[in-house]
Amino acid sequence: MSQFLSNCSADALATAAQALKDGSLVAFPTETVYGLGADATNAAAVARIYEVKGRPSDHPLIVHIADLKYLDQWISEIPEYGIALARNFWPGPMTLILKRSELAKDFITGNQETVGIRIPDNSLALGLLEALHKLGGAGIAAPSANRFGQVSPTTASAVKEELSDYLSERDLILDGGPSEVGLESTIIDCTGKLPRILRPGAITIEMIEEVSGLEVSGSPEKKSDDLKQEDIRVSGSLKNHYAPKAKVFLDQQPLDGSGFIALESINTPDGVIRLAAPESVEEFARVLYSALREGDHQNLDSIYIAQPAGEGLAIAIRDRLSRSAKGR
Ligand code: TXA
Ligand code: MG
Repeated sequence: MSQFLSNCSADALATAAQALKDGSLVAFPTETVYGLGADATNAAAVARIYEVKGRPSDHPLIVHIADLKYLDQWISEIPEYGIALARNFWPGPMTLILKRSELAKDFITGNQETVGIRIPDNSLALGLLEALHKLGGAGIAAPSANRFGQVSPTTASAVKEELSDYLSERDLILDGGPSEVGLESTIIDCTGKLPRILRPGAITIEMIEEVSGLEVSGSPEKKSDDLKQEDIRVSGSLKNHYAPKAKVFLDQQPLDGSGFIALESINTPDGVIRLAAPESVEEFARVLYSALREGDHQNLDSIYIAQPAGEGLAIAIRDRLSRSAKGR
């Protein structure tokens, strides 16, 4: 059983940073979803992330840093467009895949020559990172704080529900309230001539094209059927991921007694349990994972979801939902 910190003062963050330095795990809020963090230079601590998540050990982890000044030590190369993306969208819901430096060991990159880096836009996350950098730390390796294949947590209590059986009493869970975005970061491969989206998110194709002045290569909506072998290790790209216990059905008429998630403008059919009625696509993203969890709390067999149409963030929502619907 881990310790749960809901009053995250500067002192608490310093304590949490010291816990990371000592090899413990710290789950922390970000604007996308909660992460399960370890000192990214500590092989033993990172190994515990895999154990606690039940995740295959060749899946790479994202390294989180507090500021652009900590980027260089992790990477050996960054294209012009990568710099433009970093300057415009960090701190924010974006992960860049870049050629690694010596510091990014195989236990972070899953034996690949690239490393994923992100500066999260959340004051607790940034405070924790700064406190760790102060202790000489280089960054926090953190996947989403869920068991492998399950729905990412967007609140501290969801982290507790997912992981408390697997964390030790030295590990910490920091409570920073619900995540504002609610979907995992956009992952952009910056190792080619053009940016390539590996996982869609709140930083959209349009935003990337505008800032980079380049065309984004590959369509993320086609991505899942189009995976090259190397991409299989982008674990969020596996077809059956983000799955609650209930069976998920997309864009079908809901059966009596099942759960229902749809934009507020869509009425609730008779006999169906409304789990969320978001007013916008942004709110849809923000509440989706907690609504799926709520369906599981209510022991529903099935959850029906009317997917939001359109481009931008709606693409990311449909990406996750298509995987949820493939089940476990
Ligand atoms: O929003 C997020 O990105 C959250 C928060 C905590 O930052 N993190 C997150 O981590 O979603 P995770 O591990 O659940 O998903 C990260 C994805 C994985 O599918 C992983 O395979 C991929 O990023 N990834 C990490 N490093 C990579 C690399 N070098 N090359 C390709 N994919 C990479
Ligand atoms: Mg994940």
